Amino acid sequence: MASTQAGPRHPKGPPKADPAEEAGPFLSALLDSSVGGKILVALTGIGLVSFVVVHMIGNLKVFQGQDSINAYAYFLKHSLGALIWIARAGLLGIFVLHLTLALRLQFRSRAARPVPYQYPGSVQATAASGSMMWSGIVVGLFILFHLAHFTFAWVTEVEVAPGKFSNYLELKDSHGRHDVYSMVVAGFSNPGLVALYVVSQVVLFVHLLHGIQSSFQTLGLKNRRFASLIKALGFLIAFTILVGNLVIVLGVMAGWAPPIHKTA
Ligand code: HEM
Repeated sequence: MASTQAGPRHPKGPPKADPAEEAGPFLSALLDSSVGGKILVALTGIGLVSFVVVHMIGNLKVFQGQDSINAYAYFLKHSLGALIWIARAGLLGIFVLHLTLALRLQFRSRAARPVPYQYPGSVQATAASGSMMWSGIVVGLFILFHLAHFTFAWVTEVEVAPGKFSNYLELKDSHGRHDVYSMVVAGFSNPGLVALYVVSQVVLFVHLLHGIQSSFQTLGLKNRRFASLIKALGFLIAFTILVGNLVIVLGVMAGWAPPIHKTA
């Protein structure tokens, strides 16, 4: 029997809200929903991987010598004006969004499934996402350490003359620029720090290996036809980052960076 309580229906359905009013709720709904969260984790992850690739290419300038890497660092810090601060704020925002949304997804999925999976395929999937959380936390800790080491120079000093120590940030080249070259050479002449960087790069590789493929899948790019291509591409990007960063750390330690030619 039809309900007698239902009111008159609008001929074209419920009245539509003003699009400007809908934008706010849309963004908060996107952030709040698990699907929206997954998409944002994928997009911010791709943004962070892009930064790591560009950063690695810039750091490889250490093998072109002191002038090359110092000029590059000077350009980034002093020639871009406000742009560098906008880029830094953007990077920090992307990082925080990636971390918080990824952790929230993990906690939500655990809360939704307190009893472990029964089938081997699902166990594999949970192991991969579980390792994503732990590798992600280690990478996050590495980034904090790395900033303390090279950006804030809180970790260690460099011996500039027998018994005379200087803070990394006080190192200057013959043009009066921050001597990033000497800072990196000093940083990777310490075997303990080298070991820490090597282990962190391996963990970053593990994180990226699954993360890059997973981002493509979330964005709908990994269908049956392209699955093996996407897998190979994910591996190639993660492996290139691993090799590039290890070459910098171990190559500088081995003395492959050209020596400084003093002009004064
Ligand atoms: C392992 C090889 C790496 C080397 C040799 C290296 C080197 C450096 C150096 C020298 C700086 C300071 C630049 C300056 O003060 O001018 C720096 C900053 C930074 N590095 Fe790295 N890095 C490496 C890997 C990474 C990785 C894997 C990440 C991220 C996952 C990362 C993230 C950052 C960030 C966020 C900054 C601060 C950038 C800024 O100040 O705007 N680095 N790195």
